[in-house]
Amino acid sequence: MGRMKIADVAESIDHELVSSSDIHDRIAEIARQVSEDHRGDDLLLVGVLKGAVNTMVAFSQALSIPVTMDFMSLSSYGSGTTSSGSVKVRQDLSTDVRGRHILVVEDIVDSGRTLAWLVDEFRRRGAASVEVFALLEKPARREVDVEVKYHGFDIPDEFVVGFGLDYDERFRNLDSIAVLKPSVYQGAHA
Ligand code: PRP
Repeated sequence: MGRMKIADVAESIDHELVSSSDIHDRIAEIARQVSEDHRGDDLLLVGVLKGAVNTMVAFSQALSIPVTMDFMSLSSYGSGTTSSGSVKVRQDLSTDVRGRHILVVEDIVDSGRTLAWLVDEFRRRGAASVEVFALLEKPARREVDVEVKYHGFDIPDEFVVGFGLDYDERFRNLDSIAVLKPSVYQGAHA
């Protein structure tokens, strides 16, 4: 009762990768570090929809400094599972970032293309500084070098869902991060 756990979707999940308590402990650790590093900075957190929402909520509530928050919706041009490199803004910030200290909050860095584009874009818009917090990284898939200052967990190159990450919009509300059973996506077109 109370939250969606692996047991509630057991038929779709192969195994758990990061437990709910490990996620929250790591986020709390990073939040302590960010609170120390950015005391007095008037930091703007930017969450990338939709996957980063869960991380944004947990992270912002674990900070001990006042921040402001905004969100952006992005999509890569082209379809399929590989990012093509060019990014389209579906929904922009409502904040003028000129002169602001920005911390981008991401659920996962895969190729790194989304993040590299976003960091460049905020610099073009005149941000005073741009740093990144990513809960997950898949080092095996990285194509573009982009600095992730605050980093949660490295994970293997497997199809993961939960804590914001979806398969076909499902499983975002799973409380942990888990590997999907191949049977769930086999036969489905990308
Ligand atoms: C995911 C993730 C990042 C991006 C990472 O978003 O949240 O924004 O892909 O991939 P990259 O490093 O290869 O650029 P997705 O497009 O799945 O959208 P969603 O967050 O709405 O699920």
